[in-house]
Amino acid sequence: MGVLSGKSGKANRYKKKKKEPLAQPSPRRNGFLCKNMAMDLGTANTLIFLKGEGLVLQEPSVVAYNIHTMEVLAVGNEAKSYIGRTPLNIKVVRPLASGVIEDMEITQAMIREFFAKVQKMGRLLKPKAVVCVPAGISKLEEKAVVKAASESGIGKLFLIEEPIAAAIGAGLDIDRNRGQMVVNIGGGITDIAVLSLSSVAYSDNIRVGGDTMSRKLKEHILSKHTMQVGENSAEEAKIAAGSAVPMPGLTAFTVAGKDAATSIPMTLNLPPEEIREAIQEPIATIIKAVHAALDKTLPDMVTDIAEDGIYLTGGGAMLRGIGLAIEKETNIPCNLSTEPLTTVINGTGKTLENLKFYKKVFI
Ligand SMILES: Nc1ncnc2c1ncn2[C@@H]1O[C@H](COP(=O)(O)OP(=O)(O)OP(=O)(O)O)[C@@H](O)[C@H]1O
Ligand SMILES: [Mg+2]
Repeated sequence: MGVLSGKSGKANRYKKKKKEPLAQPSPRRNGFLCKNMAMDLGTANTLIFLKGEGLVLQEPSVVAYNIHTMEVLAVGNEAKSYIGRTPLNIKVVRPLASGVIEDMEITQAMIREFFAKVQKMGRLLKPKAVVCVPAGISKLEEKAVVKAASESGIGKLFLIEEPIAAAIGAGLDIDRNRGQMVVNIGGGITDIAVLSLSSVAYSDNIRVGGDTMSRKLKEHILSKHTMQVGENSAEEAKIAAGSAVPMPGLTAFTVAGKDAATSIPMTLNLPPEEIREAIQEPIATIIKAVHAALDKTLPDMVTDIAEDGIYLTGGGAMLRGIGLAIEKETNIPCNLSTEPLTTVINGTGKTLENLKFYKKVFI
């Protein structure tokens, strides 16, 4: 793997400069031409779709590097498995936070490694790419995505808002003269959009998502049981036994960690209702944002949304009962897309397959 410059975060003082960049570009290696691609660069997961092939990569947005040599040691699944188990000389980071790029250099390094996994990049053959971004991010945040993509080897770039990509991926007819609401609950951000006639009638985001729920659970375990658990363990407990509303059939989940006071290893049996309570705050914030979107939407469109239901996508929407919780507060039923984790990339991929047809949906 390659080497970081050391300009990222606090790692600067450990810098040990090496010249070669990550994942060396190599034109037409093995006679292989670069394929145009679609990318969903998410806080929790990065997904890549190649034209004519479909989804080719789905891995956590995580990078592990040596803080002394700045060498990138692992990205994706392997790097995520290091979380909570690293020695002092290794740092594991998520370069995106709340849906936007927090560390430019590490994001670029991660993208280059992922590109290298799926295709051999050529300097002379820069692929076109469609990349999705959260709805309503600032121009500065948008520019960061453009910079990260272009400096990682992408040629012509098209940007699309995540909820529009989600709507296309969920198979909605976005051309209709009818209000349709999409709520994409990701790891670090929830995008809410009302679409009509292939355009956005309303869009906004809140910096709350599935990772916020895992973090809340971790904090709850620490404050109520004086027990420290790893990030991955908290997420596992949330997925195994968490829900937004009471659900039948859920059983307690045993989480392992250490006593915060004595550092002695311990396990804890977490009943589903305790997990549910611990994650209520971010769920309430998401519901409040849906309310705010309805407030700003014209009455006829609200009627359309009530008739069709709200479309839920994103990994965070896989939390049991989240649609019911939204329905309980808004009186509008929810439809969960069939593959919530890949709806956005599938929609982004569809636009890549027909750039001309989808021209009007790009930013
Ligand atoms: N079965 C499940 N139940 C509850 N939550 C889940 C489940 N599966 C995945 N998640 C959560 O989904 C989130 C990741 O979703 P997704 O991959 O859509 O996010 P992302 O696109 O990377 O993030 P963002 O869009 O915010 O930048 C994580 O917080 C994860 O814990
Ligand atoms: Mg996402």
